[in-house]
Parts: sequence; C-alpha cells; structure tokens
Amino acid sequence: MNFSYAKETSENVKADALVIPAFESDNPLKDYACGLAVGKLFLKGDFTGKSGQIMVLPAQGAVKADRVILLGLGKVEKACGKVIADALADVYRHGSIDAQKIKTLAVATEVAGEPEAVKARDLGRAIADAAIFGSYRFLNHHTKDKHVKRVWVEKTIIAGMPAKHLAEVKTGQERGAVVATYTCHARDLVNEPSNFMKPRHLAKFAKDMAAKIPGLKCRVLEKPELEKLKMGSFLGVNAGSADPARLIILEWNGGKKGDKPLAYVGKGLCFDTGGYNIKPNSLGMKGDMGGGAATICALGAIAALKLPINAVGVVPATENEISGTAYHPGDILHSMSGQTIEVDNTDAEGRLILCDALTYTQRNYKPRVVVDMATLTGAAVVAVGSKFVAMMGNDAETIEHFEHAFNRVGENVWELPLPDCYDKLLDSPVADMKNIGGNPGTITAGLFLRRFIDEGQKWVHLDIAGSALYDGDNWGLWNAKSPTGSPVRALVEYAEHCFANPGHKLDSEHGHKHGDGHLHKH
Ligand code: BES
Ligand code: MN
Ligand code: ZN
Repeated sequence: MNFSYAKETSENVKADALVIPAFESDNPLKDYACGLAVGKLFLKGDFTGKSGQIMVLPAQGAVKADRVILLGLGKVEKACGKVIADALADVYRHGSIDAQKIKTLAVATEVAGEPEAVKARDLGRAIADAAIFGSYRFLNHHTKDKHVKRVWVEKTIIAGMPAKHLAEVKTGQERGAVVATYTCHARDLVNEPSNFMKPRHLAKFAKDMAAKIPGLKCRVLEKPELEKLKMGSFLGVNAGSADPARLIILEWNGGKKGDKPLAYVGKGLCFDTGGYNIKPNSLGMKGDMGGGAATICALGAIAALKLPINAVGVVPATENEISGTAYHPGDILHSMSGQTIEVDNTDAEGRLILCDALTYTQRNYKPRVVVDMATLTGAAVVAVGSKFVAMMGNDAETIEHFEHAFNRVGENVWELPLPDCYDKLLDSPVADMKNIGGNPGTITAGLFLRRFIDEGQKWVHLDIAGSALYDGDNWGLWNAKSPTGSPVRALVEYAEHCFANPGHKLDSEHGHKHGDGHLHKH
C-alpha cells in the first residue's frame, strides 16, 4: 500500500474515488466544504452517517475525484481511532473496489480529522490500519485470473488535513503502516499450509526478515544443540516428525547495554495432528504456529521501529506427528528445567514445547518481563471465542499494562485467574506433573506453564487459540475466515508505550467502552 498526502483540499483531489467519512446526524455533510454539492448526489435521508453505512456514488463534478464514497462513522461521542479504522476497512474490501476498478482512493480527513473527536496520531494509524488490513488477501497459491487479477486499492491519498496536524497524522500513519505490515506477515505465515510452513520454513522467514532489518539478529538452534540443552520436553513432541525441530531466536538491542530485555515466547507448532491422541478433525491446525508467527513478526516491527528497548523473541518450532518414532501416552519427558512430565495426552503438546522455551529464555536472558503466546487450548475458544484473547499472569501491573496495550490497538482481551486450588490437578503419580489437568482447560494449561516460571519472574500468558485463527464474518479490521496476526499489534504497543517507560502512568485517552466490550479500567 502506497500512502501520500494531498496539498489540495479533498474536493480538489483527483482519484478513482474520494471517501467522505461523516458522523451520524440529520445533516451528516453539513461540516464538509462541498457538502452541499455532494448532498445533491443522493436523496435526502438516504445517507445518515449511521455506523457501517457505505454509499458509492458517481461524483458528477461535485468533487474532482471520479466517485464519492460516503462512509458512516456513527455517533460522534463514540469517535476514536478504532471506530474510524473499522469503518474505513470496510471500504477497502467493499465489492465496488473490484467491480469499479478503484485503485486510488482519497480519504477526506476534514470531518473525521476533527482533533476534538480523534487525536491526529490515532487518525493516521487508523487510516494505515484500514488500508492495509482492508486490502489484505492471501494469494500465494492462486493461479487463476479470477483471483489474481482482482483489483484492489494500491494507493491511499490522505486529503484535507490541516497543516498544523499533518506531522502527527503522518507519524501515526507511518508507524501504523509498519506494525500493520508485520502483522500481515504473521497472517501470511499462519495462512501458509503445513506443507509450505515446516519448522525450517518458519526459521528461514525469521532469518530473511532479520537480514533486512539493521541490528536485528537471528539465530536458529538445530536438533543436536537442543539435545545438548536437554530440551527433553520439546524434543519429545518432535520425536514423531520427519522434520527436525528448530529453536528460533531473535534479538533486538535498541536499549542500553545490560538493560533487562522484554522476552516474547511463541508456540511454533507447524501442524498439530494431536499425536496418538489423534484429533478427529485437524483441519485448521496449520495455524498452530500462530504464537510463533506473532513473536517473530512483533520482533520485526519492534526492530523496524527502532524501539529503544532490548527485546528477544524465542520460538520453539516443530510438528506434532504420528509415526513409529512418535511419543506415546504415558511417556515421561525430562524437561530442560529438570522437572519431569508424564504425557497424559499427546495433544496437549503446546505447553510441552513452551516450557523448555521458557526455561531457555529465563536462563539465558534474565528478562524483566516474559510473555508467552500460544494457540494453546480449545477451551479458550469456548471461554472467550475468537474475538478475545485470554490472558493470565502473575503480576497485576504487567497485566494492567497489557490490557491497556490491547485497548489502545482496539483488540479485546480478558483476564482469567490462575488460582492455586487448580494446580494440584496437574500432579502425577509417576512424575513431577502430568501435561493435562482437566477443566478448566485454559487455566490448567496456564498453571502448567507457571510451574516453569522462576521465582520473582514477571510473566504473562496469552492464549490466542480463538483470536489468532478468526473464523467469523468480516469484523472490524479483519476479513472473514482469516488469521488475524493477533496479538502482534498489542505486543508492539506494549513494548513501545509500557515496557519502554517503566512506572509510567496509564493515560486515559482511550478510556471509554466500545460496544464489543473491550476492557477499560482507567
Ligand atoms: N492447538 C491445540 C488447541 C487449539 C484447538 C487451537 C482449537 C485452536 C483451535 C492444542 O494443541 C490442543 O490440542 N489442545 C488440547 C488440550 C487438551 C488435550 C487438554 C485441546 O484444547 O483440546
Ligand atoms: Mn494439540
Ligand atoms: Zn496444538
């Protein structure tokens, strides 16, 4: 996606179409310079500015662009970056983009850009998000014209922004575009089927990405090194696979030397058959490396934005297969931490690869905060669905910062407890613990991981089983049945605004509730 800024006011910009966003009212275009001329293009009352409304009209000279696209933003009281981004994303994936061959789209910011309604920087980010997510398609495996030759917007022209706000809008848009682009890389990785996305392919993506970003380092540990590190839990899961495991490590040192890093650890399970506890239907389990994809791409964005922090990303990558060498129910695995694990269920493999990665990360990096993320439990989909991330952790302040970060990027998160009373469900008669603890499944998975967190280590666990693999209809920035890249945007937001400013006060600039209920505690 190409972004540019028009010097002219929006009605004078040449483009295939001009989007005019407007808030809901009896006369939604009254604040717009050429509102009178544009108002003649439709019958009174047809366009009210109601949220979700989109009208594509021939401009007939009312503006210099060929077409006008009226976009309803809903009530002005509810205005914020998320409202604008969600509404505008719908324009980019609207059927008329292809049908009417709209390649250049100008966005009038006079109305939506009212700094009282939306901060200029948020507006810039909203436009970048809408353009990049709204135009997202996964076309790597299409060969037929029908798909490949479809038209979508290639250029977004930001028009009508008063000069005094331009710099802020531009900053928001440019940084937003970086984060959105890396988030879409994560979506591509999740979309790739397992025959194109083996551990070695995920590792190659990380290496190639790091090679393009100055200062970002990537190392990949291969099986003999993992054996030397005694990662018996991780290697147990890999035992049935013809493709050897990889531990992918990304390091960004943008902070002071010796500053403790932020550590992201992501489940890179390239395909989950369930193992001998075979899944009745494993369709969709190509996406079980969503946490790993998010970790890799968050490190990419953090480095591309040159954030002034030290950060590390660690991704254990393997498949969970069935074969003559595969691990069995009842096997006992010796983890890197020294703790032993009875395999009660080979399908609870995510925690088995994460526990060794968490031990490795804590021993080698002594992080200030460690955050793991995984498509870990079907129970998380039952509990919070695919529009929320389930969050657990051991430090109230870090949890609050993550809620803030998710809210700031307009994504939903809900905290679940990690009560001690369920921990004993993990006890085993033959080993230090077993790998399943029954219901509540998302919480017992979190409690399993907690057994591998060192005393005093601040830790957050994000179960993204629903949110990473969104399978609903078009919703906000996301298109139907599409991996979302969740939670890359929140990870970058946390790194930039919370981790980089320890002890900062959470601002209340986003302190109102949205209809879909993401949290606001401040
Ligand atoms: N990758 C799955 C979890 C999953 C399920 C993600 C559905 C996305 C959608 C994970 O490895 C798994 O199989 N978990 C088991 C755990 C159980 C055996 C305790 C599950 O959720 O059924
Ligand atoms: Mn599984
Ligand atoms: Zn899995």
